[in-house]
Amino acid sequence: MKDNNIITIDGPSASGKGSLAKVLAKKLKFISLDSGLLYRAYSYCFEKSPNHLDAKKYFSNLKINIIDHKMHVFENNIDITPILRHESVAKSASKLSSFKETRDNLISIQRNLVSKNGLVADGRDMGTVVFPNAKTKIFLIADEEVRAKRRYAELILNNSSITMKSVLRDIRDRDDADQKRYLSPLIPAKDALVIDSSDLTEEDVLDLTIKYYTDCTK
Ligand code: C5P
Repeated sequence: MKDNNIITIDGPSASGKGSLAKVLAKKLKFISLDSGLLYRAYSYCFEKSPNHLDAKKYFSNLKINIIDHKMHVFENNIDITPILRHESVAKSASKLSSFKETRDNLISIQRNLVSKNGLVADGRDMGTVVFPNAKTKIFLIADEEVRAKRRYAELILNNSSITMKSVLRDIRDRDDADQKRYLSPLIPAKDALVIDSSDLTEEDVLDLTIKYYTDCTK
């Protein structure tokens, strides 16, 4: 049975998944699941406890809260989300994400976030592996340069030494690894609507998504 209450948004780095998930969750009053943040949190735990068993235990002490329709991760009541947003954490998350133990440790946490209120889940394998029964699936793409510009604009706020060149290289490397990995590779689900946001505003993408969601759940 297809699930009306779940919207999945997958796509490469900086394609606008997170922003779309946030506005969509706000509009529909759904819970939002930022699965990339869970992978980042797991890699943070793995750095503290470098084996999967202990990393899982460490992870279980973290708290996940939704603030203003965005997921945040807390350790001892301190919001560690800004730390998890660093590109170095993204790189280690990307490496760890190809291991079965990592994906197995995170899958039930993601599925447990499903609520009666509805869920907007963004990531790489939301529509293909984690929520294959979701009725509304989006695969959001954009040109590499457009995505690098967006990510650069975010990262430069906290790191003045970052360069466009390094951002573009990191995006390429991560997308390449995400697409080529054996487990849960980054690919559109067969029943996903592919939206290219290169020349679209955030409002355009939201409108297309709402229209598609309405059609899918009629
Ligand atoms: O989306 P974000 O850039 O925060 O994700 C960080 C990394 O976590 C990705 O590059 C990817 O390797 C991994 N990831 C994944 N599956 C997901 C979400 C993220 O493998 N559903």
